[in-house]
Amino acid sequence: MTILTLESTCDETAAAVISDSGAVLGQCIATQETLHERFGGVVPEVAARAHLERILPVIDTAIVKSGVSVDDLSAIAVADRPGLAGSLLVGVVAAKTLAVAWQKPLVSINHLHAHLYACQMASEEAVYPSIGLVVSGGHTSLYHCTSPLDLEYLGGTIDDAAGEAFDKVGAMLDLGFPGGPAVSKLAQQGNPKAHDFPRSMIGAPDYRFSFSGLKTAVRYTIAPPPAKTVSASHLDQQAKADICASFQAAVVAVLVRKSTRAVKEYKTSHLIVGGGVAANPELRRQLQAAADKHGFRLVIAPPELCTDNAAMGAIALEKVRRGEYAELDLDITAGLQRGY
Ligand code: KG4
Ligand code: ZN
Repeated sequence: MTILTLESTCDETAAAVISDSGAVLGQCIATQETLHERFGGVVPEVAARAHLERILPVIDTAIVKSGVSVDDLSAIAVADRPGLAGSLLVGVVAAKTLAVAWQKPLVSINHLHAHLYACQMASEEAVYPSIGLVVSGGHTSLYHCTSPLDLEYLGGTIDDAAGEAFDKVGAMLDLGFPGGPAVSKLAQQGNPKAHDFPRSMIGAPDYRFSFSGLKTAVRYTIAPPPAKTVSASHLDQQAKADICASFQAAVVAVLVRKSTRAVKEYKTSHLIVGGGVAANPELRRQLQAAADKHGFRLVIAPPELCTDNAAMGAIALEKVRRGEYAELDLDITAGLQRGY
């Protein structure tokens, strides 16, 4: 069995050809960072149009790289949720069209479940059952995962996602887009105790997160009231680094505390972590320290599988094995509801 997987939930257009064993035979990722940079964030309409231009060449490249012929594909899988509506539509319509043209069955992929499946792809041993933490640009969610496809949502952010907060702090400090990698790099030179930023909801007896208060605290540190606009031009590199390190420390503290609590409450042996923010070295370091201290196994997706890609669409193999195919009337689920 060899499948083609498509990913277009946000601003990466990606395709991969995956073998029965989960090996990635060929893949292609087209990023749109330069398109969105001048806006300081992903503009949904711009993203959708860029997906439209790129999706066919990206699919073509992945298939050519894999050396697999279209006749040998057993199914076409596509991320249908959650994400930006226009972006999702491009991938879903492309997948449905190819399924009809090539006479292949269709499989739907939950993008957040796929982020966690990236951990299984990187691990020799079974990582389920486990607690799953997804930390991305659009989501911060905790799950109790009994299998790759059976996930109970425990809680998530009630406002900004962790990656979104990194991006907004990066934008306020003129660090470019996306802010996450730049903030984490500059944080290495900063003092994480320079500013005592809020660790919202860290002690709350649930699995909800909130990062908008932290973002506002950073804003007022950069531009104290009564300033109406935010400018970081008065800050030198060290001042910026201190803000980055202190901000990052606050995000990481909350993520580590709540994930550790979930592992204990649900008595799982594993914590699995995926999504773009899981590439953050300080988060990885502190999660490992918590795993060592509390005696659980930590599996974090390798950095290249943290940010959006189609390889993690290998989760579709699990659905094929269960005989869970999608119908041709498959629709997108943008999923602004936080439960996904
Ligand atoms: O998973 P992803 O590629 O897209 C979504 O599904 O949202 O995650 C992108 C997010 C962005 O917000 C980006 O700033 C963040 O992941 N990110 C990081 C790092 N690398 C990427 N955040 C913190 N530290 C990093 N090293
Ligand atoms: Zn993602």
